[in-house]
Amino acid sequence: MSAGQAELRQPTPAEFRAFQELVLQDSGIWLSEMKKALLAGRLARRLRELGLHTFTEYHERVSTDPVERVQMIDLLCTHETHFFREPHQFEHIEQVLLPQLRAEADAGRHSRRIRAWSAACSSGEEPFSLAMLLLSVFPPGSGWSIDILASDLSTRILERARAAVWPLARSSEIPPPYLKRFMLRGVGKEEGRMKACPELRQLVRFERINLKDDSYPVEAPFDLILCRNVLIYFQAAEKLRVVGRFARLLSPHGCLYLGHSESLLGTTSALEAVGPNTYALPGAATSGTRRAS
Ligand SMILES: C[S@@+](CC[C@H](N)C(=O)[O-])C[C@H]1O[C@@H](n2cnc3c(N)ncnc32)[C@H](O)[C@@H]1O
Repeated sequence: MSAGQAELRQPTPAEFRAFQELVLQDSGIWLSEMKKALLAGRLARRLRELGLHTFTEYHERVSTDPVERVQMIDLLCTHETHFFREPHQFEHIEQVLLPQLRAEADAGRHSRRIRAWSAACSSGEEPFSLAMLLLSVFPPGSGWSIDILASDLSTRILERARAAVWPLARSSEIPPPYLKRFMLRGVGKEEGRMKACPELRQLVRFERINLKDDSYPVEAPFDLILCRNVLIYFQAAEKLRVVGRFARLLSPHGCLYLGHSESLLGTTSALEAVGPNTYALPGAATSGTRRAS
């Protein structure tokens, strides 16, 4: 710490409760008591940048400044992600969902268009993993079109996702054939980075969408929705409301993929488990592969 930077104390219980309320109201995220140190750590630098000395002063600022409020939520969100995270779900997409959609299309019951949504996409690894898989299964000339919506609450992280540039170290998460075909290796001042190729980038659209909102500005139905590792931060009732909205946006053969700690077991009749934290509408064709989760 440099001279002149007074050490910021921890938020008082009342200050912490005030932030808990704000964050819940804006994002649906519930900061448990255990997150107090996280809140203090992540906001401390911002307070210093603004020349503020207490969490109360910062609370007053975010209560009246919507731009700063977005910035605060950005700082408090966890953005950890990986390419092909939870690979068994990508296997389910490839081995169960896509063959099913193909069979439906062959029978004239589904268009040759796949519509997908990565609903908390963070820095883009998830929607671009999906794009690589879908483009491999339905290459140009196959007669299929692919449309992927990638959304997040955080404007800052969406900018990164839209840029489609990642550290080269991330390349180990991508199967080599995909890496070779879809990623461009940076040279010169881009050394040490990789970028998705234009063919991949044109499949993915970006929007800021808050999952807590009562309705989503999206064009449905979706054949697959990935909403992984975000609902774990929501309270149970809020999580169910989000899942209910997803159920209304799924196509009859579509699947919803949740994160590994986000099982719906015993909580809703709107969807049925068809794979690992993977859900479909009751009686949907994909439920031929139904399995408890
Ligand atoms: C841990 S990341 C998960 C990224 C990716 N889905 C994965 O599983 O690898 C959680 C993301 O959810 C976003 N998020 C948090 N609250 C949200 C909300 N209310 N609406 C939309 N996105 C939200 C965060 O900004 C963050 O990028």
